[in-house]
Amino acid sequence: MKKLLPADFNFVLKLLYALAFCLAALALNRQLAFYNDALLTLAQPLAPTDIKRVALTFDDGPHPVYTEPLLDGLKERGVKATFFVTGQNAAIHPDIIRRMHDEGHLIGNHTYTHIELTKSNRETFKQELVKTNNVIQEITGEEVLYVRPPYGAWDKKLETELNMFPILWSIDPLDWCTSNSSCIAQAVIKKVGENDIILMHDYYKTSVEAALMIVDELQKQGYEFVTVDKILFD
Ligand code: NI
Repeated sequence: MKKLLPADFNFVLKLLYALAFCLAALALNRQLAFYNDALLTLAQPLAPTDIKRVALTFDDGPHPVYTEPLLDGLKERGVKATFFVTGQNAAIHPDIIRRMHDEGHLIGNHTYTHIELTKSNRETFKQELVKTNNVIQEITGEEVLYVRPPYGAWDKKLETELNMFPILWSIDPLDWCTSNSSCIAQAVIKKVGENDIILMHDYYKTSVEAALMIVDELQKQGYEFVTVDKILFD
């Protein structure tokens, strides 16, 4: 057997040192991970758990005059909303659609010409949805998944045929039939609760004013305004 030289002992010693160092590093790392986990657990109760969510939805736009001031107001207040636009209006105002998308709003389909689905026009209705999807996608680069059927008329089979999901509403202040923005705002504020979907139209000055009044009041009450997909699928 070969006699061990002092140089060999040196080598073994170095190896042991290296091993000890690795173990120490590993232990330190575990300790840190443990503290990290503990801190996260401690931090959780501080996260807001009592935020009530609500969704503002705007149909029929974009409007050449009223939609942009609405977007300004929503931006100032940190509010995300959902816009169900018609294809024909989107095609005329691609800049407004782009702005909605850039500012984090959700854009949905409201048919091309605001057509109501009936027993006799299913194919035309479907074509209008496809055409509108194409207009929006061309501008935003994003697939359109949500549709608000005008007058609420819908055929469930279209969901699988088009891979689209219909979004109705839970609060309708009939904003199109009154020219008093405070009345519209009060109609919503009186009824609203957590996870409500509010139906409005960015096609009237009074609706835009009312929407911002609603935001100001409900934010004071602790509501957070989110896009409609967050209410339905989160
Ligand atoms: Ni409509």
